[in-house]
Amino acid sequence: MTTVSTTQETHYPTFHKPAASEFAVKPWMDNYETFCKTYDWNVTEKELRLPRANGYNKATICIDDHPPEVMKRPALVWEGTDGKKEIYTFEDLKRETSKAAHLFKNLGLQKGDRVFVFLERIPELYMVVFGALKTQALVGPLFAAFGPDAIKDRIQDCQARYVVTSPALKHRLDSILPECPSVEKVIVVDREGSYKSPQAHEVLYFDTIKSVPDTFEVPYTDKDDYSIIHYTSGTTGKPKGAVHRHYAVVSQAATSKYVLDLHPEQDIYWCTADPGWVTGTSYGMFGPWALGATSVVYEGPFKADTWYRIIQDYKVTVWYTAPTAIRMLMKAGDDVVGKYDLSSLRHLLSVGEPLNPEAIVWGKKVYGHVFHDTWWQTETGCMHIINFPSMDVKPGSMGRPHPGVEGAILDDNWNPLPPGSEGHLALRPKAPSIFRTYWNREDVYQSRFKNGWYITGDRASLDEDGYFWFFGRSDDIINTAGHLVGPFEVESTLIEHPAVAEAGVIGKPDPERMEIVKAFVSLKNGYTPSDELKEDIQRFVRNILAAHAYPREIEFVESLPKTRSGKIMRRLLKARDLGLPEGDTSTLED
Ligand code: PRX
Repeated sequence: MTTVSTTQETHYPTFHKPAASEFAVKPWMDNYETFCKTYDWNVTEKELRLPRANGYNKATICIDDHPPEVMKRPALVWEGTDGKKEIYTFEDLKRETSKAAHLFKNLGLQKGDRVFVFLERIPELYMVVFGALKTQALVGPLFAAFGPDAIKDRIQDCQARYVVTSPALKHRLDSILPECPSVEKVIVVDREGSYKSPQAHEVLYFDTIKSVPDTFEVPYTDKDDYSIIHYTSGTTGKPKGAVHRHYAVVSQAATSKYVLDLHPEQDIYWCTADPGWVTGTSYGMFGPWALGATSVVYEGPFKADTWYRIIQDYKVTVWYTAPTAIRMLMKAGDDVVGKYDLSSLRHLLSVGEPLNPEAIVWGKKVYGHVFHDTWWQTETGCMHIINFPSMDVKPGSMGRPHPGVEGAILDDNWNPLPPGSEGHLALRPKAPSIFRTYWNREDVYQSRFKNGWYITGDRASLDEDGYFWFFGRSDDIINTAGHLVGPFEVESTLIEHPAVAEAGVIGKPDPERMEIVKAFVSLKNGYTPSDELKEDIQRFVRNILAAHAYPREIEFVESLPKTRSGKIMRRLLKARDLGLPEGDTSTLED
């Protein structure tokens, strides 16, 4: 156990809670301590008028069943990579998602069937997700940058029955479909209208929804019925599918109210995360829309100028983004900020990786607002440890638990430690959005609970004021630009390359991306190390696994350190790479 003095750690002064008069909009929660005494999740459940006659379906709650004045409000304000702009009110989305629901029903979808959505960030992605939820499917949004192997692993694990994709992404699916016999139909969303020759197993989305009704009776949905599955990387084995219930919407809505501080009548909200990741569904869809808030979605990639232009053009007030993006904005410089009118902004938040104090201080300087860090995971389904608008912000700290959340730092025997000690970050699994299982891996799911605590896999500490401070992962999982990457997945892909004999993969600290994927590779006989070979291996992993998971650094080695049972010792690779003490090497093979 290491004891640390976390409060003094950062040397950055605390940003004190603004005075009431300084808030552009009065926060929903104006006093954390008082609020914690009375709040529980059922307060939000009541506010959402739950349960409703047809239960808890997320599509009813988020889209269909708002009061008439909200139904007329823009729900989705979309801009495409090509500059095309589209606006959909809640009423529009109700019609479009109903049509999508009919499409699935007519294909024979049964409750619980798995539907994967492998699309660019286009309006139909949102329509298809909610359409499938209306039919009680379990929906898995897939990141558009996934390669064939990543898609195949997920489809096979889940035995998906339907996949929705676009002509541009379809080729990555086509190559693996013969190995995925569970897939009966592929629905092709062709916005350009250029895909004219569908195969027997393909259904053209726009042709089909022309002839179906635009109303859909959502069946009774229990709070425990499954809604969304997001795959998350582990240290060993393939990624595991964390399964969430419809009930999750309660804590997603609560946190959208008290943390994002959304005031739906006046806010324009932008979550920059892709729905292939949990932030892009919990806070790119469910929470904000359950409150009836207007969400901006920009399809294109990061570029400082474009991002600022989006904030300016759509008058974004609440902005939820990630540390890597903030660091890239810092790198783009203060001058770019000055070119745009960002005066609409009033509340800034971040998630996914530790938010470095410099980024908070810089944000305050250039935007006039402090970035509020939030901590959570795919498994927790909603924000759990938070810097609330009405709280002192200690730069470098993840903040304090949401009311209704109990967090602790545990020792190796799963008992709570006093403030100031580093240990396992654990939570009581009470939030409605806490995951219900890992698909097909109930054993691994169960292993994440000890003494009534959910063990997050992170190491952290707690200070005397109740603030949590992040130390790192307690496993080998790599966090690169906010995306978790399992070393095993990358190693498995690397050894599929014809030149690679063995591979060991670690996360190497990086000033911009937190970590980059670094691979140590030994070559088969007949291959010699070269820059061309490095690039070829990198391309190979990008293409078949995922663009974000390829090793940005490759080091050729003669052999890899292994245990006597043949397991690659990543810990040792990392220690050697970073020049740190090697620790216990007693299990190292001779
Ligand atoms: O290690 C923590 C890190 O990201 C992990 C969760 O990743 P994922 O399941 O992909 O979900 C990301 C978006 C919710 C955590 O176990 N992490 C997330 N937020 C923070 C963080 N690390 C430090 N500070 C944060 N604010």
